[in-house]
Amino acid sequence: MSCQVRLVTTDGDERVVTAEAGQSVVEAAKQADIILPSLCGKGTCGTCVAQVTAGEYTLRPFEDDALGSSAPEGSALMCCAEPTSDLDVVLPFDSSRLIEQAPAEREAVITSIERLTAHIVKLTMTLVEDEVTGSAAEFEAGQYMQLRVPGRADLRAYSMSNVSNWDGTLEFLIHIREGGLFSTYLDQQAREGDVLELVGPQGTFGLEENGMRPRWFIGGGCGLAPLLSMLRRMAEWGDPQETRLVLGVNTAADLFGADEIGELVDQMPELSVTVAVWHPDGDVTAQDERFEYVEGSAVDVLRNGLGSIDDEEQVPDIYVCGPPGMVTALEEVTTTAGVAPERVHTERISAN
Ligand SMILES: Cc1cc2nc3c(=O)[nH]c(=O)nc-3n(C[C@H](O)[C@H](O)[C@H](O)COP(=O)(O)OP(=O)(O)OC[C@H]3O[C@@H](n4cnc5c(N)ncnc54)[C@H](O)[C@@H]3O)c2cc1C
Ligand code: FES
Repeated sequence: MSCQVRLVTTDGDERVVTAEAGQSVVEAAKQADIILPSLCGKGTCGTCVAQVTAGEYTLRPFEDDALGSSAPEGSALMCCAEPTSDLDVVLPFDSSRLIEQAPAEREAVITSIERLTAHIVKLTMTLVEDEVTGSAAEFEAGQYMQLRVPGRADLRAYSMSNVSNWDGTLEFLIHIREGGLFSTYLDQQAREGDVLELVGPQGTFGLEENGMRPRWFIGGGCGLAPLLSMLRRMAEWGDPQETRLVLGVNTAADLFGADEIGELVDQMPELSVTVAVWHPDGDVTAQDERFEYVEGSAVDVLRNGLGSIDDEEQVPDIYVCGPPGMVTALEEVTTTAGVAPERVHTERISAN
């Protein structure tokens, strides 16, 4: 039996695709040349989340943290949802993010590999010019590329930390995972001049137009990468709204990207930065005077910050990126504080 799946974007664009028995929504859409956001295809990364507003479906196994416990009612992972009746699905992005062809495959040359901490590497690359896409690096702030592990078919997602540019530059902040395929390559073999294959840009995590409403960015670990990209985009455009960046770290010395964040503080008068330090008895000399340091977690800072707002107009749009458990905990805080789900934008830095 086949089912009709109605896909509606936040700006009301509507497409209907047919799902055959046993097909997921992502697979059915792909068959109709609609590429829905999806990365792992097996319920671990959370990139394919959408809201089912009518109809029935069964679910393939998935990881709880990929969805989060505070996702809006009816939320499900579209790579795991197999329709068993006609279905209405609300996609959490507008029609400009709905793509009808697979993301481009490109090549890029490594131009620098800089170790920022024991586990974090800044990788900078330049795209190789091609006939279709030219030499520019065009992407929305907050998007990611998949980088192919050299000599293998495996792809790994990494968010750009810079912004769109004409000279083809891509900058990534990469956590070296022990035993990880791409991590091992980057840690032990990668050299300037190496050419890597990339697929993208991809992803729907990015700035939403919100008038003058404040924007808060909350990150942990390499979750900083897409947040830095969005902040750099705001600095480039001179966005005037009150902006807050909250970063959760274990000790003050674990903060990376301080120079880049400091530059933004100098450029953006409305930007304030709070570093939430879990173990404050670490190295206090590592503290940067441009940032506020508080004891505790980013979750505490968000809870206290939201708790002190008494004017509805001041409730911020919130952008969260970090390890899945941290994102879920932050979502719980926003739900408890009554922040409307459409104001909360999340991306999980998960294995894929
Ligand atoms: C949308 C998106 C954007 C991302 N952006 C970034 C980014 O900007 N910077 C960045 O460093 N990472 C980012 N990631 C995470 C990154 O893609 C994964 O960590 C990737 O699997 C690492 O590849 P690897 O080959 O080194 O390790 P793998 O070979 O995939 O894994 C090796 C081992 O490490 C564990 N592992 C791998 N990744 C993680 C993880 N994230 N958390 C916990 N355990 C893990 C695996 O379970 C496995 O045991 C992003 C992920 C997503 C979904
Ligand atoms: S693509 Fe659905 S959870 Fe990863």
